[in-house]
Amino acid sequence: MKSIILISALIGCCFAATPKIGKCPTPGDEKTDFEVSRYLGRWYEIKRSDTPSEKGVKCSTANYSLRSDGKINVTNSGVNSEGDNVVVYLTASIVNPDQPNFLSVEIFPGAPTASYWVIKTDYETYSSLISCVQITADMYSLSGWILSRTPTLDVALVDELTKLLETKGVTELLTNDRTGCTN
Ligand SMILES: *[C@@H]1O[C@H](CO)[C@@H](O)[C@H](O)[C@H]1NC(C)=O
Ligand SMILES: *[C@@H]1O[C@H](CO)[C@@H](O)[C@H](O)[C@H]1NC(C)=O
Repeated sequence: MKSIILISALIGCCFAATPKIGKCPTPGDEKTDFEVSRYLGRWYEIKRSDTPSEKGVKCSTANYSLRSDGKINVTNSGVNSEGDNVVVYLTASIVNPDQPNFLSVEIFPGAPTASYWVIKTDYETYSSLISCVQITADMYSLSGWILSRTPTLDVALVDELTKLLETKGVTELLTNDRTGCTN
């Protein structure tokens, strides 16, 4: 299998299928005690918004690692509909030390940055997060993900996190296809 680097990205990025009118929501006071060091490492995608960048991609995972400059490398991996491995490298930065769960993701130079915030996580089992891109002054795109440290996650917990994301405006999450995954 060959590897393909996508310009657009997988988890935590970027444009949802249906842009909305208005401004990106700002994060509430969820998880202001967020500890990025506990969030590092590998996560499996359980559910996601229907973003064009992840169309047909299965077996998606994200790996977060801390760089010496304090930024975070985000490596998103998956398998596309042709069976090729796809990998996307992103850099995330904490914008405000008082809100460490709120990250800014550089997609590519000159493009609008995606904001990315962790709504709820216990670091060891699950995470739910939202990403928003302000596409124009009055148009934004909101996406959400549910991640897990293991390839599957308790159904009741997934339901709870799905409902939580719905209260933040993220609806119609798709379930990650993990049939035949080797990761
Ligand atoms: C995650 O990334 C780090 C740093 O690049 C690497 O050492 C580690 O092996 C990766 N973990 C997985 C599960 O890919
Ligand atoms: C972060 O990504 C850069 C560029 O891909 C790489 O050179 C560096 O080793 C990575 N650092 C960590 C801690 O993963």
